[in-house]
Amino acid sequence: MDINIVTPESVIDPWPLLKELRGAGPVVRSEPMGGVWLVSSYEHCREVLLDYKRFSNTVFASTDFGPWFEGTDTMVHTDPPDHTRLRSMVQKVFTYRSVQQLEPRIHQIIEELLSAPEFVDGMASGEATDVLGQFTSALPTTVIAELLGIPSADRKLFYRWAESMMRCILADPRLVPQEHIDAAVVSGREMLEYLQAEIAERRRSGATEDLIGRLVKENAGGALSDEELAATCVTLLVAGSDTTTSTTTTMLSHLAHHPDQRDRLLADPELTGSGVDETLRYDPTARVNFRKVLGDVELGGQRLSDGDIVWVLVIAANRDPARFERPDQYDVGRSPNQHLTFGQGPHLCLGAQLARMEVRHAVNAFLARWPAYKVVDRRPSPAYAALTWEAFTVAAGR
Ligand code: HEM
Repeated sequence: MDINIVTPESVIDPWPLLKELRGAGPVVRSEPMGGVWLVSSYEHCREVLLDYKRFSNTVFASTDFGPWFEGTDTMVHTDPPDHTRLRSMVQKVFTYRSVQQLEPRIHQIIEELLSAPEFVDGMASGEATDVLGQFTSALPTTVIAELLGIPSADRKLFYRWAESMMRCILADPRLVPQEHIDAAVVSGREMLEYLQAEIAERRRSGATEDLIGRLVKENAGGALSDEELAATCVTLLVAGSDTTTSTTTTMLSHLAHHPDQRDRLLADPELTGSGVDETLRYDPTARVNFRKVLGDVELGGQRLSDGDIVWVLVIAANRDPARFERPDQYDVGRSPNQHLTFGQGPHLCLGAQLARMEVRHAVNAFLARWPAYKVVDRRPSPAYAALTWEAFTVAAGR
């Protein structure tokens, strides 16, 4: 089919083309996009994500999407059984309880960011204030640094590495400028070295109060090499930062444009939890998951060949009328809401609970302070694989 969903216009406003795509069928081959298969129905997106035997995550070499890993495999780009070995170690330490324990600290970090004099003065002045730079992007990086146990004196380093790697990871790798990739490679190498030193230190001290210490303890049998352990920590940072930043930013953006929905949250902050999931459904930050076909397979009435690339369009699945009532309506109280934004199957997001908690607290704290905020400037960045932001400023409102 002659459809290209990655033109600059459709990245900014994807909905008209996605509607056309849905009309053409649940699984469509895009000639202008180099013959990739676009999967838009909820049912078939789910089928692909669940079936790792026919749809592999080895779609990009680790060096395409994460040049900083320099050949070290991570759970993101492997299939079972290797994936199981890499993931189970983190799953053991990244438990429901360990995330629950972070809640008071997350609350405190949000309070600190929102009461920083620069931020408060900006909002008090009634002028445009940089919510993206000063609030929504600072939060997840700080949380992950803290979770891992990075000393606060080194946080600045951590933020710099995160920023340069994130510029590459969230876009289609073929669209990333070479200079960004070069910078990310340097950051990745520095970060891996830094983390390997932290791992060695935990091994010496036996300390287990942070995630690095617990990973080292869990890995006493040596199932993972130190490079793999360090790469796992980088994965947490890369997977958990900009995704959470963008979801918080997107939610503040949609609430400003749906005052009736904002009023519902102001009247009942308990509803913000389902509002987060509705934001994830309605305008997902992870728009696409990529897979590679293994063997010749049939999907949605089409024949796919070994090695073909599949774009699992979560962004379309989440608005499939066969699955969701009133799919184009933003409804913060929506229930049930089984969106696909955290994935499905073996690669289901490990940080979903943490992300939900961060966004919920961030939005509630922001609304409590500035209930009538207005968006001044809003600029999504031109990446397709993810909805990320280049600018988001607001003013306090009446
Ligand atoms: C709103 C925020 C987030 C979104 C939308 C999101 C989305 C996703 C998606 C779609 C996947 C699966 C990718 C695939 O199947 O190929 C994934 C995997 C993953 N996520 Fe998240 N994520 C978010 C936040 C986080 C956070 C906060 C963390 C941890 C700190 C995290 C850690 C991970 C890890 C480690 C994986 C890899 C799991 C695996 O491959 O087995 N994510 N995420």
